[in-house]
Amino acid sequence: MDDLREKYLGLIAGAADETALEELRVSAVGKKGEISLKMRELGKMTPEERQIAGPALNALKDEINSALSAKKSALADAALDERLKTEWLDVTLPGRPRRQGTIHPVSQVMEEITAIFADMGFSVAEGPQIESDWYNFDALNIPAEHPTRTEMDTFYMAQKPGDNRPPHVLRTHTSPVQIRAMQDQGAPLRVIAPGRVYRSDYDQTHTPMFHQLEGLAVDRDLSMANLKWCLEEFVRAFFEVEQAELRFRASHFPFTEPSAEVDLRCSWSQGQLKVGEGDDWMEILGSGMVHPNVLEAGNIDPGQWQGFAFGIGIDRIAILQHGDPVDADSEGEALPLIGVDVPGFQNLGVHHARAEDFHPIVALAHFQLAIGP
Ligand code: DAH
Repeated sequence: MDDLREKYLGLIAGAADETALEELRVSAVGKKGEISLKMRELGKMTPEERQIAGPALNALKDEINSALSAKKSALADAALDERLKTEWLDVTLPGRPRRQGTIHPVSQVMEEITAIFADMGFSVAEGPQIESDWYNFDALNIPAEHPTRTEMDTFYMAQKPGDNRPPHVLRTHTSPVQIRAMQDQGAPLRVIAPGRVYRSDYDQTHTPMFHQLEGLAVDRDLSMANLKWCLEEFVRAFFEVEQAELRFRASHFPFTEPSAEVDLRCSWSQGQLKVGEGDDWMEILGSGMVHPNVLEAGNIDPGQWQGFAFGIGIDRIAILQHGDPVDADSEGEALPLIGVDVPGFQNLGVHHARAEDFHPIVALAHFQLAIGP
């Protein structure tokens, strides 16, 4: 029995894998295993012999069984160690960050402005980016000889010989959407139209594609006062300031009469823009009372209705909201540039108008007198 014990404990200790171990189990304690056969022989023994051999065989069987299961888990541990060595993973390595997209700053600003005007009852109107020259120019009272119509400023669509369609352009402003909205909706109406516009212009402070937001309100008894209130509300909400002071500067747009460029009181100190206080004025948009010819082009009777309109350059205002002025142009004007962490913006400068650029304030009352009831 001692021989059996030594033989099997030795073999078990040397077993290379689970298969070898299972074979050993069968030949030792399996049904026809050596130890099982020995147990069968107990029946032929005398009671005295059996009393000694029985417990000894049982103990041997137990010992072999526990040696088998100890070896089995040792083999499993070894296999696991082996796997861990090859499938090693350094959990201290930095992760591979996934690049996450965000909404483009210009789109964010468009959404923001849209929400602000929505609170004042303006809905969003749209028009095509490839626009007929009638919508882009004629309907807006821009005469045939107007310099912006030349190819120097406007991208014209190529036309094959024999193509009799009216000339089309990449719209140079969002103002043609005014005409489309009036034709579609009639009066009264309040719309804004954000979108892309194109001009043949490319230098440090201009890109051939940029964004504008048009505003148009048509109603009875509208005046420049309504326009001014509306724009002040917008500026307060957009720049998140309590107070915003706007100044109307007499200007000329063919589609408005009278026309005004609108400046915002602000201060620039150490490259920081503060809106609502200070001695600087910054031009933010063009506006005016809709010209009667433009109302007519939109099928609205100028004898019955007035309108005000405005156009904001979105890229510029996005930079003002997000960016810091970090550079000056050749004339020494501050160029607020958006932070370098916003790709695509590094070269979009914005003019910081100097106080002396501006003409004396033209009083609001003056405009109202000019347009009359
Ligand atoms: N369309 C003008 C431009 O592109 C901006 C503009 C000025 C729009 C005055 C208006 C307005 O609606 O009333 O420069």
